[in-house]
Amino acid sequence: MREPVTVPAVRDRKRRDGKEPLVMITAYDTAFARLVDAAGVDVILVGDSLAEVVLGYGSTLQIGIEVMEHHVGAVARARPSALVVGDLPWMTYHTEPYDGVRNAARLVRAGAAAVKLEGGRQRLAVVEAIIGAEIPVMAHIGLTPQSVHAMGGYKVQGRSVSAAEALVADAKALAGVGCFAVVLEGVPKVLAETVTAELDVPTIGIGAGPACDGQVLVLHDLLGIADRPAAKFVRRYFDLADAVVTAVASYSADVRSGAFPSDEESYHGSSDLREALARR
Ligand code: KIV
Repeated sequence: MREPVTVPAVRDRKRRDGKEPLVMITAYDTAFARLVDAAGVDVILVGDSLAEVVLGYGSTLQIGIEVMEHHVGAVARARPSALVVGDLPWMTYHTEPYDGVRNAARLVRAGAAAVKLEGGRQRLAVVEAIIGAEIPVMAHIGLTPQSVHAMGGYKVQGRSVSAAEALVADAKALAGVGCFAVVLEGVPKVLAETVTAELDVPTIGIGAGPACDGQVLVLHDLLGIADRPAAKFVRRYFDLADAVVTAVASYSADVRSGAFPSDEESYHGSSDLREALARR
């Protein structure tokens, strides 16, 4: 068993200090949490992407805190050595800072060691309140899927000089109030490079190029089981969809032909039972 990964250990992982890049991946249930932990990832993000890749919704806006709580609990029950980070879903931290604290606490009670939330300087009050309640916060800026309507779609952010400057200011402000890491999603790699150089906490990129201090991908994209078009930044490491369909088709064929179950796959009962039933 590995040493548990802690928030301070993640906060320390700047590549410019000679540290290894951070590996973060999503997981949403106990079975996959065990597997990704066995693969040695540093951070398991119970992302609200679960709305799309597990629950069949068209965006992340459709799920609330109860759903996230349920899945954070499932991941935590795998007792991974990786740090478990729970995503705060849309509208659970956008009103009063107290709402954010209360909802963050629900994810911690469910088993998360930290929470992630989306947005820049407009979130400083809630971020400070959550950190003030001793709950570590991972920030998420750039292409923030919970802002899909405000952004007019899932579009790369920070393309203009002014938007890039604003994003750097967001990142610095979030790190300044104590976020222990910053996810950069869907931004030009040169901007991710700048943010990474200017922050003392690690950046974790998704569609942000290679300069970040770590990378994150959605597990179902990486395994080839997400039923959605893959973004440019997704590397598909396996065609699990094909493997699952092939296995279930073989099972179906065996059931239909009578090849499953075999005698070895059946319980035989005692000789008394067999004889009594044979006499009927
Ligand atoms: O919900 C999620 O999976 C995420 C990652 C893509 C960063 O927020």
